[in-house]
Amino acid sequence: MDDNLIDDSHLVKTREMFAKCQEVVSGGESSYARLIGTRPIVMERGEGAYFYDVDGNAYIDWCIGYGPMIFGHRPKPILDAIVAQITQGGMLYTFPHELDYEVGRKIVQAVPGIDQVRFANSGSEATQAAMRLARAYTGKDKILKWEGSYSGFLDCHAFSHVPALEAAGRERFPRTLPSQAGIPKAVEETIIIGCFNDLDSAETIIKRNAHQLAAVLSEPILADAGIIPPEPGFLEGLRRICDENGVLLIFDEIITGFRVSLGGAQELYDVIPDITCVAKAVGGGTPGSAAFGGKKEIMELEADGVVLHGGTYSGNPMTLAGMNAALDILINDRERVYGHLNTIANAMVQGMRGIFAENGVPAYISQVGPMWQVFFGHEGPVTRYRQARASDTRFFGMFQTECQMRGVYFHNFNFERFFACTAHTQTEVDRSLEVIATATKIVKDRLSTLSAGV
Ligand SMILES: Cc1ncc(COP(=O)(O)O)c(C=O)c1O
Repeated sequence: MDDNLIDDSHLVKTREMFAKCQEVVSGGESSYARLIGTRPIVMERGEGAYFYDVDGNAYIDWCIGYGPMIFGHRPKPILDAIVAQITQGGMLYTFPHELDYEVGRKIVQAVPGIDQVRFANSGSEATQAAMRLARAYTGKDKILKWEGSYSGFLDCHAFSHVPALEAAGRERFPRTLPSQAGIPKAVEETIIIGCFNDLDSAETIIKRNAHQLAAVLSEPILADAGIIPPEPGFLEGLRRICDENGVLLIFDEIITGFRVSLGGAQELYDVIPDITCVAKAVGGGTPGSAAFGGKKEIMELEADGVVLHGGTYSGNPMTLAGMNAALDILINDRERVYGHLNTIANAMVQGMRGIFAENGVPAYISQVGPMWQVFFGHEGPVTRYRQARASDTRFFGMFQTECQMRGVYFHNFNFERFFACTAHTQTEVDRSLEVIATATKIVKDRLSTLSAGV
């Protein structure tokens, strides 16, 4: 098997092209998240469950563009819809079009908490717009979000995703720390950080700040710290406490929306927020797919022009055509799509659990439907962010590298996760598990040798 190892001798063009990219694009590519890790990939093309780099190496893709490509790479119905729109209709109108109605209607029907919608251009924009809307509706400024959650890279919400724990204070009442440099100190004052899955501390914070708290901005499943599902009663409790204190509940369903079920995590857990943000899966990989929406009385602030939301490209027909085609598959083929995603994810998770157990590698795999992550070094459930932070990242990093070198790709940051898509089949599951077994043995042996000082 190791004859096919994707080592440096198989990455010649990749390294050349990446160096060229670095000359003109700061860092080599346009997202900090994609620069994490040491082995560059320069893409040639994607097809179904695979992508191919410029050296012709094939990888089974469990990252699927950080989640959007729920039908895999180059899904024909979506490509056809986009091509038809741009060749027969055009790319940009800045006037309403039937697609506004069609896509809007489908989102409103699918997501319980959305009566009306607005389109945005990215998840970050959608969550920013939702925060502004909540502030306008309540007349209050502050937003409570969780340590370890990620709602985008903008000033308004880029706090405490992976904070330096020495500076982050107590687990139940963490300090607000900017995720990167350049965020004004004044914005920090508008964000309060809490502890996901700790309802008591959340209640204390909400009650104490009710007079100045506009909303709780919550991923319903903490999906940017690996996968941390809500404990029973947590989301229900949040809903109740928000209602009792005149605070809105915003669900950031950028990852979970149209993925863990058609109606998202709010449908899965039967907790309905006031405002919901969706992106990623809703467009099946169509760039710019994002929306936010909520109760009509809240969304009316947009219609009345009380709250500023816009964007030259918001609701452009090219993106809407892709979203429309994706929604048609997700809605009309609901049973088959979600059944398949869960079957693939379950097979992977079961297989991985078996491999780690057989090799005596302590590892906890956390899964919700089609997404999962492994926390090395844990035997039992990971329910808190700081537990996730305490997982064995050295093992994870080495394990990821060994898998990538054998053509199985998932992100090398253990706070990302594995995603199933409809293009994955038992063939990709079998091959991936074979590689994962090899990688597990190699890393375990290497670390044992290192710790024995050999
Ligand atoms: C939960 C969550 N919210 C918001 C965002 C931001 O979305 P985008 O990258 O489209 O701006 C992300 C991105 O990964 C996310 O995972």
